[in-house]
Amino acid sequence: MKGKVPNEFIRELISSTDIVEVVSRFIKLKKTGKNYMACCPFHHEKTPSFSVSPDKQIYHCFGCHATGDVVTFLSEHEHMSFIEAIEELANLKGMTVPYEKSDVTKDRDQEIDITQCYQALDAANKYFRWQLKYAENAKDVIEYIKGREISGQTAKYFQIGYAPELWQGLYDVLSQKFSDKVLSAVGVVIQNEQSRIYDRFRGRLTFPIYNRRGQIVGFGGRIISSDKSQPKYLNSPETPVFHKSQELYGLYQLKQREKPTRIIVVEGYMDVVGLYEAGCYHAVATLGTAFTEDHAKVLFREVDRIILCFDGDKAGQSAALRAFQIIMPLLSDTKEARFLLLPESEDPDSYVRKHSRAAFEALCDSALSTSEFFSYFITKDKDIDSADDVAKILSKAKEILTGIKDNAYLESIKNTLAQKLGMSFAQLDAFLKHTNNSQKSEPSNIVRWQKLDINHLTVVEKALAYILMMPKGIDEVVQRNNTVLFACKTEQHIILLDALNIIRQNIGLTSAMLVQILTEKYEKFRQYFYQLMQLPVELDEKLLIDELIAMLDKVTKEASQSELELLISKSKRTILTEAERHKLQKLLHKKEKT
Ligand code: GTP
Ligand code: MN
Repeated sequence: MKGKVPNEFIRELISSTDIVEVVSRFIKLKKTGKNYMACCPFHHEKTPSFSVSPDKQIYHCFGCHATGDVVTFLSEHEHMSFIEAIEELANLKGMTVPYEKSDVTKDRDQEIDITQCYQALDAANKYFRWQLKYAENAKDVIEYIKGREISGQTAKYFQIGYAPELWQGLYDVLSQKFSDKVLSAVGVVIQNEQSRIYDRFRGRLTFPIYNRRGQIVGFGGRIISSDKSQPKYLNSPETPVFHKSQELYGLYQLKQREKPTRIIVVEGYMDVVGLYEAGCYHAVATLGTAFTEDHAKVLFREVDRIILCFDGDKAGQSAALRAFQIIMPLLSDTKEARFLLLPESEDPDSYVRKHSRAAFEALCDSALSTSEFFSYFITKDKDIDSADDVAKILSKAKEILTGIKDNAYLESIKNTLAQKLGMSFAQLDAFLKHTNNSQKSEPSNIVRWQKLDINHLTVVEKALAYILMMPKGIDEVVQRNNTVLFACKTEQHIILLDALNIIRQNIGLTSAMLVQILTEKYEKFRQYFYQLMQLPVELDEKLLIDELIAMLDKVTKEASQSELELLISKSKRTILTEAERHKLQKLLHKKEKT
């Protein structure tokens, strides 16, 4: 498990990187005045509205409002997480990311070298691949593969291998190069209580699992014999490099092929392989675990539409419901999920072999929307003409929908269900809301940021926007104008003060660096800061600075005034402390002066 990346490292990385250089690696930029322009890589357009500022070290699209710094750019453009973008950037510059060890992982991971882990897994894969050709019973294994209608080409594509029926086959080979510690850390061998070491995968087909950077992080193993005392599948355990709740089998391969428009999530390794064999290239599988929120997030970075496919049996149905609850909060106007429930006793692999790729694709095309799925699920095996059953349906609906936050899709779900039950939307909604207080969520700041209306900023926000946009230009203003806000009422007031302080202490910051330093303290605000910078402004910096000074004055005055009122009203109720009296005097004195 990796720890946190130190802030100092991120600062150094951002300040030593030129955003123009990095963006140019991906798109062709044209110098226009102070900035560089291009057609925006984040939305479709014919005339350039994507601008990169070397001065501020940020980018901004006037069309789709995409905005951010070099790290955001990499993470959005290359569909990476923030940390992955940091890694990539460090890579480009030949730097190594120095992860801080968390206390929990400190001991456990102490001497385990992550690079060695990847090398050991790669070596294990080579061993399994070799065994598929040269093991004593290789012929039987090949027969098994053929029997399941997997071509040699497909087996090679997925790097399917074979772990022979030996206790120390892999161990004998790999221990020449890797320590016991590394081999058991990555889960290819097991060390028992008597310290005896043996191979985890024995007599199994092996399916290497790749992370998004193409490194092998673990294996799935399917038993070949008909021995019923053994589990059908074995998976690598959670290891320092393998986290099941985040990885998806086949995702790396799929991304290598082409940019998918939709991804189908299936349950098994063999489903991914079987679908590929049939020519259906956009399937991935969870790794013997349920579908998680992390899985959904990983997939939504790649595509706007995912199809969740489940076996038709009871287990499949309840897995579908769990997935529904997990994915609902992540859906939006652009992110869509559909549900495909296969006929009973079929899985994607068997279905596509029995019918055809076209038939399976047609099923995908007709997969249920969230509202169709919900309404189907909740009314199946029920008689909607029976009052008793309707009561059951309603209480079940309430149970499932409680805890799902309000969401664009929730309304359509209720609509569809109301229609099916012959109720009005208002009736159903009233019922679901009744005694359902737990669902009320306060309108939070986060909501405001997502809907930030650039034309209706508060003065504090506007001042903050100016400061973010030109931290260099206002060095002088900030040094001279020692703004003190007495009553810091909102978080934005506090941030404004902090921003001024940071500029005071660090001369010559770019916008990107200012955002970075602020975000270290106000983690959730990164996107908000970039949004603020989209405020359309005068081009004349001199005028801007004058306006900023006026705004800072106004904010200070307002703040002093409200603090003054507060102290006066308090003094009427109780005796002020020494410090409060002092402050009051100061404020009154200041007011007289102006
Ligand atoms: P085949 O039977 O080979 O066609 O595989 P399948 O993919 O159809 O398997 P199934 O539908 O039974 O299981 C789906 C997924 O659940 C598998 O790919 C495994 O990841 C996981 N799984 C199945 N059986 C076991 C088991 O016995 N143990 C564990 N840990 N995982 C299993
Ligand atoms: Mn199967």
